[in-house]
Amino acid sequence: MAEAMKGLKRTHRCGELAIANVGETVTVMGWVQKQRNKGGIIFVDLRDRSGILQIIFEESDVKAEGFAKAEKLRSEFVVAVVGTVEKRAGAVNEKLATGEIEIRAKEVRILSEAETPPFPIEEDSKTKEELRLKYRYLDLRRPDLQRNLMLRSRITTCIRAFLAEEGFLEIETPILGKSTPEGARDYLVPSRVHPGTFYGLPQSPQLFKQLLMCSGYDRYFQIAKCFRDEDLRADRQPEFTQVDMELSFVDVDDVIEVNERLLQKVCKEAIGLDVPLPIPRMKWQEAMERFGSDKPDTRFGMELVNVSDVVYGCGFGVFTGALENGGSVQGINAKGQGEMPRKKIDALVEFAKGFGAKGLAYLSIQQDGSYKSSFAKFMTEVQLDELVKEMEGQPGDLLLFAADKNKVVWDVLGNLRLELAKQMDLIDENKFNFLWITEFPLLEWNEEAGRYVAMHHPFTMPMDEDLPLLDTDPGKVRAKAYDIVLNGTELGGGSVRIFQNHVQEKMFEVLGFEMEDAYERFGFLLNAFKYGVPPHAGLAYGLDRLVMLLVKAESIREVIAFPKVKDASCLMTDAPNVVDQVQLDELELALNLKNKDE
Ligand code: AMO
Ligand code: AMP
Repeated sequence: MAEAMKGLKRTHRCGELAIANVGETVTVMGWVQKQRNKGGIIFVDLRDRSGILQIIFEESDVKAEGFAKAEKLRSEFVVAVVGTVEKRAGAVNEKLATGEIEIRAKEVRILSEAETPPFPIEEDSKTKEELRLKYRYLDLRRPDLQRNLMLRSRITTCIRAFLAEEGFLEIETPILGKSTPEGARDYLVPSRVHPGTFYGLPQSPQLFKQLLMCSGYDRYFQIAKCFRDEDLRADRQPEFTQVDMELSFVDVDDVIEVNERLLQKVCKEAIGLDVPLPIPRMKWQEAMERFGSDKPDTRFGMELVNVSDVVYGCGFGVFTGALENGGSVQGINAKGQGEMPRKKIDALVEFAKGFGAKGLAYLSIQQDGSYKSSFAKFMTEVQLDELVKEMEGQPGDLLLFAADKNKVVWDVLGNLRLELAKQMDLIDENKFNFLWITEFPLLEWNEEAGRYVAMHHPFTMPMDEDLPLLDTDPGKVRAKAYDIVLNGTELGGGSVRIFQNHVQEKMFEVLGFEMEDAYERFGFLLNAFKYGVPPHAGLAYGLDRLVMLLVKAESIREVIAFPKVKDASCLMTDAPNVVDQVQLDELELALNLKNKDE
């Protein structure tokens, strides 16, 4: 390589050259996108991460030897070219940033040859994702992925600069830690020195950052790798990155204030977006009631309407039954969808069942004002009219209702609302609607476990006025917890932490932990609190999600260099993989596979 580069130094990236450079002698290096041989003249599109540049080879300029090399060039060869910048002789290429110029080559060196890649290296690839991920190093050459990763780098630089300016210290916390599962499953790493014991990889730096507050670092941040063994989705990876922070001597508003300015700055620098401050806030209860979701997409309406009062005592058993069981009947109005064919409505019913609905009742308002409905026969004309009025139904509208426990109704209609918005093309992709969700419930009843579990985590502070409820009605306690939501995705979340041991002990009690058990797991934190602890609070963003939304990617895999697929494997390296018996022996581990063929 040193030989190949001898006497050459890159002067510019391809995309940096423009009309202002005409007349200059430059040295560019990159990958051949395309070579076209037109007889006495050869055109080469040269690519690097900054863009594409046209090079023109003529024998009179590069001599026979140089021309022969140019003739040999194939896609993905790596070359160095010395030449002069000229205004294009041919037509300007509007599609290229460098479309007004070309380089007249004087010298060319082939730095590396290339086999034909298994798929074309091009923008908006049509290639199947599996193939792209198997050859991720080639996929990463594509301009869209390169732009995403370059933007990701700009975003982290911007975040670091902002937080440093605000007095945050960047401190690293361990990856090999103690397994304290809460929520997702931990990834485990066996210890060789202490056979039979395991480290847990961190799901977040939560406990360490609280300890840092105890130790007086008062403003901490970290761009931290986190690991969660949970089912993957488009916005979930087994390892992902948080922008994690914690602050001392603060309450909810202080955390929100500094983070709003952070988001404003990042959006401006990354994509030129102006985020007006303050970012709107909505209480959890209101978000659920209006949107059926704690991460509402507020780019469109179609809000939920609670019609329990209207249908109370009607003749439709599905509705009255739900009300008798302490549930509710709620609906959404799909404006202008009154003509939706039966088949499509049936598909919506199936969709709703996927979220736990027992069914979905519908009523479409015909142009002549009459109704077509799955439950009209159970209600009087007057009752139907009242229901339609409550839903602000107009001729041509389709009303959809779910009747069940609130939790189910919200989940069903919240998701149906998103699905219909997609089908009806209601979402303005140019909108960036940030929203804080506040006052989450502290606890959630877990049917399976038959106990309360922490909605955020067990260190979250209850709201001051709700503290007494911990004893009497824990389910009603609201937390000093907040999420930041962007266009219907949970971007980040955090809370004010419990810092008084008696509140923490109460919390463990409500969660059904024996104190001994709690000390076994979190003793280091509880003990640390005995030696002087400041009130503290924090928040963590999913960096991958932030970048995904800012570049409008469909999945976080598009903004992670080497992502994993649904079954948590890496198609390129084949991780996870079996290990040598020697390695297992060293760890004193024996496999006990249920399916011996695996
Ligand atoms: P939480 O669990 O809400 O909070 O995580 C914070 C943010 O991390 C992102 N995130 C993920 N991104 C990609 N893949 C995943 N599997 C994944 N899981 C979470 C989300 C989420 O909002 N320690 C607390 C924060 C705090 O209280 O300060 C925590 O981890 O964007
Ligand atoms: P059924 O009486 O089960 O035939 O249901 C009559 C109509 O009510 C059908 O359109 C069902 O899809 C709908 N339905 C059933 N259960 C529910 C429910 N829990 N919420 C809303 N609609 C339902």
